[in-house]
Amino acid sequence: MTTIKLGMVGLGTVGQGVLKMVQQHADKISAVTGCQVVVKTVMVRHPERHQDVAGVVHLTTELADILADPEIQLVVEVMGGIHPAKEVIEQLLRAKKHVVSANKDLIATYGRELNQLAQENHCDLRYEASVAGGIPILRAIADSFAADQITAVKGIVNGTTNYILTQMGQQHWSYEDALKQAQRLGFAEADPTNDVTGKDAAYKMIILSQFSFGSSLPLGAFAVTGIDQVAAADVAQAANFGYVLKLIGDARLVDDRLFIEVAPTLVEQGHPLATVNNENNAVMVTGQAVGDTLFYGPGAGGLPTATSVLSDITTVIKNLVLKTTGNRFNRYRKALAPASPATVADRYYLSLTMPDRPGEMMKLTAAMAKGGASFSQIVQQAAVGGQARVMIITHQMSKAQLATLAAELAATETIRLNCAYKVIE
Ligand SMILES: NC(=O)c1ccc[n+]([C@@H]2O[C@H](COP(=O)([O-])OP(=O)(O)OC[C@H]3O[C@@H](n4cnc5c(N)ncnc54)[C@H](OP(=O)(O)O)[C@@H]3O)[C@@H](O)[C@H]2O)c1
Repeated sequence: MTTIKLGMVGLGTVGQGVLKMVQQHADKISAVTGCQVVVKTVMVRHPERHQDVAGVVHLTTELADILADPEIQLVVEVMGGIHPAKEVIEQLLRAKKHVVSANKDLIATYGRELNQLAQENHCDLRYEASVAGGIPILRAIADSFAADQITAVKGIVNGTTNYILTQMGQQHWSYEDALKQAQRLGFAEADPTNDVTGKDAAYKMIILSQFSFGSSLPLGAFAVTGIDQVAAADVAQAANFGYVLKLIGDARLVDDRLFIEVAPTLVEQGHPLATVNNENNAVMVTGQAVGDTLFYGPGAGGLPTATSVLSDITTVIKNLVLKTTGNRFNRYRKALAPASPATVADRYYLSLTMPDRPGEMMKLTAAMAKGGASFSQIVQQAAVGGQARVMIITHQMSKAQLATLAAELAATETIRLNCAYKVIE
């Protein structure tokens, strides 16, 4: 049986999962690929921290040990970050090594260039694990939806924020308390910035959009709102209205143009995404022919993420055996302009603070009328210190109308718009 020798860059949470799976699932891997797979060389920063595997693999701090080794045809990049991961992958591809990566930051930012470089060098570049950890969503979109026109892809693609929002909803905790608990249990990193600001989810939506629509928007070209400003009062009121607050990545076609957004969103309690709790992820793909489909599972963790890495490894090995390497992971490309704010319509949950005195409600309804907004549900809580909290669910309104409404409310100087969250049913 042919032996395929792997190189790895990184041996952290995911890297250790990959090494474990290559060893523990060796029989299944060779049954599926017809080849024996072994990890030969692993590049890390601190070899002294990985002495437990020193007898099994060659540990190095030098990429040259992998680049110059003709036995290594395939390398797994699980070091993370954009630099130097980009330069590492470029060197690997130029050295004609096939690459499997889990790096969403890098693929979302430089995927186009790296895919081009891979093709020029007749190499495979695959990155299933970069979106939703253990859920096989990219290959499903690329292969199983190949002939359908996807109209929307939305979901919960960040486990840390889903854990925090679930705890806020179920335990009635503040954002700060739920974050501390998530950090204690290992569901949030010591520096959770990329997760709680929505940036990590935005990276994943960029990649999902590229696969679903053949086109994407770069970070900075679409709205990204995290959960770090979410108030316990709004999570509780969402529940009273019959909704669950989730951080939703939302990419869809609007009049044949592309709309992408990451934002806290009220999801109706009966919606499948409302039942996705704690650190789990789910992606809903809507196809013109197939309708709604849902992919659910663990969005992170060593072994779940390694499962996706190994599925890419087996695909590359099959391509090596069949001599069909060098094809793009995602072949769908289509030029799409960004959707105009006037055409993107949704219902919204508005949370307002206003003085509890005659005339204020009139100002609110006047501002709503100017914005073209109308009430579906409205609740006013008992005033505290003369200020009342008013929560509203609107009928459909466009992004442009929402912006007008926000400007009209700001002009009242007495009514404060605390948040405006999209509503999905
Ligand atoms: N963790 C997850 O659940 C998860 C899920 C999906 C995707 N991912 C993605 O998978 C990748 C890896 O994540 P992780 O959680 O496994 O990271 P991690 O635990 O922080 O491990 C990173 C590894 O890379 C090595 N490394 C970092 N910089 C290096 C450099 N300049 N040169 C050589 N080695 C370097 C580190 O070496 P030392 O050990 O010597 O310091 C460490 O072994 C990231 O792109 C992440 O976004 C992670």
